[in-house]
Amino acid sequence: MAPLKAILPLVLAGFSAARQCSNFLIPVDISSRQGQFRKVPVEGNLDVGAFATRFNEFQKNYTATLLEGYQTLVGSYNISAQYCRPDSGSKNKIQILTHGIGFDKTYWDLDYDNYKYSYVNVALNAGYSTLAIDRFGIGNSSHGDPFNEIQAQAEVEALNAVTLAVRNGHIREIDSSYKKVIHVGHSFGSVQSYWLSAKYPKNTDGLILTGYSTAGQFLAYIVAGWNLHSARLNQPLRFGNASNVVFRTVVERHGLSNNIVQGLQKLLMAAGVDLTSDEVWNELATTEVLDLTTGYNKSVISYNYPSGYLTHSDLTALQYAFLQPGNYDVGLALVAEHTKQPVTTGELLTIGNAPKMSPFTGPVLVVTGETDVPFCGGNCYGQVMGTSTSNIPEGVAKAFPSASAFESYIQPNTGHGLNFHYNATAGYQVIQDFLARHGLAAQ
Ligand SMILES: *[C@@H]1O[C@H](CO)[C@@H](O)[C@H](O)[C@H]1NC(C)=O
Ligand SMILES: *[C@@H]1O[C@H](CO)[C@@H](O)[C@H](O)[C@H]1NC(C)=O
Ligand SMILES: *[C@@H]1O[C@H](CO)[C@@H](O)[C@H](O)[C@H]1NC(C)=O
Ligand SMILES: *[C@@H]1O[C@H](CO)[C@@H](O)[C@H](O)[C@H]1NC(C)=O
Ligand SMILES: *[C@@H]1O[C@H](CO)[C@@H](O)[C@H](O)[C@H]1NC(C)=O
Ligand SMILES: *[C@@H]1O[C@H](CO)[C@@H](O)[C@H](O)[C@H]1NC(C)=O
Repeated sequence: MAPLKAILPLVLAGFSAARQCSNFLIPVDISSRQGQFRKVPVEGNLDVGAFATRFNEFQKNYTATLLEGYQTLVGSYNISAQYCRPDSGSKNKIQILTHGIGFDKTYWDLDYDNYKYSYVNVALNAGYSTLAIDRFGIGNSSHGDPFNEIQAQAEVEALNAVTLAVRNGHIREIDSSYKKVIHVGHSFGSVQSYWLSAKYPKNTDGLILTGYSTAGQFLAYIVAGWNLHSARLNQPLRFGNASNVVFRTVVERHGLSNNIVQGLQKLLMAAGVDLTSDEVWNELATTEVLDLTTGYNKSVISYNYPSGYLTHSDLTALQYAFLQPGNYDVGLALVAEHTKQPVTTGELLTIGNAPKMSPFTGPVLVVTGETDVPFCGGNCYGQVMGTSTSNIPEGVAKAFPSASAFESYIQPNTGHGLNFHYNATAGYQVIQDFLARHGLAAQ
């Protein structure tokens, strides 16, 4: 049982790594040829559940069912980014980091436990600069219509636009020029990095696909396991807006705003219910109550996601989808729940549409946790029917007939969300070593 303090806001000692980081918006113009979908109701949680049910139907294709035709989405959007470079100066190689579903760019640079889990710090120590983005549609990047704007293709175009801006030195806030750009993805971010390499092979110099395989049959596991809710109803105070009146009113009436969990504990005590820490933990912190109370802050504008932005229900769903029980810090998982991000209906309908092959001619590394659920069905050493590889990530090689090098690596004692496991940074070192061995060392 984790101590109660794990659910209190973290006060971090100022950590001064040898790094310089800044956050800014990158304006992009994109044009994306993509699906035009018939919209189905996704207002309430039962509608959302029905969407997931239809999506998962055996041997059916909900994408095809809802597809009405094709459209070209043209627009100008903002992509929110964190740029970091080593204190010692940049070495003209940069890694562009693209997060997966359920997270934002902070996935790569968690401040938890003095940045013990920071991918960014491992890359900086190896001499690389990093640019982590919120994917188009998510977090502090521009949002859009969840069916017909925020689809995989549009996000790939946005990633490519950011990549070109880096290559051409067109980002005002980035003073160095980068001759070599390495794309590092996690999960859906790996799908998009792969997709970019297939569509624009000249725009990337190296590909690191974490939490990834080309076995698509396990998508239904995670879509079921997420127990999807409407984001704005799941964390009404953080994902919704002032129209989510119910919980907002409770919070304001009872003065719970400083620390909602402690506030609830006090409120219950006043009503004669004296909960022990364990009870608070079991009833408030590991259940949907945690999500309902997350994010109250009068002075900060909440994300205001429209209906059609969906999210996994709670901590148990997070564990099923992303974590290997016993090998992660529950306090960190709670941070993940507090900072989680949604997935759109359009993303789910298009996640499987990446080209089957990539003509990319540089080095490719796949790194997947051994019990990854969405890409390995919980066992990366399993055998997929009709393949002859000894494990699932190795099967990705077939998609890269022209790669200068291909390696796959299974990170032990780790689930899909590699970053959240105790041994995360050792796995990250494997990545930097691979790059150094294949002509992309930073020094
Ligand atoms: C499902 O339908 C879409 C749209 O027609 C198509 O692009 C996709 O390849 C299909 N998926 C499968 C697994 O057949
Ligand atoms: C991008 O952000 C800037 C600064 O907040 C804002 O002025 C601009 O309207 C935004 N552009 C788009 C397309 O949202
Ligand atoms: C998004 O912007 C808000 C307000 O500026 C900030 O508090 C938050 O940390 C940002 N989140 C990300 C993921 O950039
Ligand atoms: C709300 O956000 C503001 C600005 O980030 C911060 O100063 C304040 O402490 C926050 N309040 C609560 C109750 O978290
Ligand atoms: C709040 O969200 C609802 C549902 O998406 C939307 O209809 C409404 O316009 C939003 N209100 C504001 C002030 O943005
Ligand atoms: C930690 O990760 C490294 C790199 O993948 C691996 O060699 C080592 O066996 C891992 N240790 C544990 C205890 O999982």
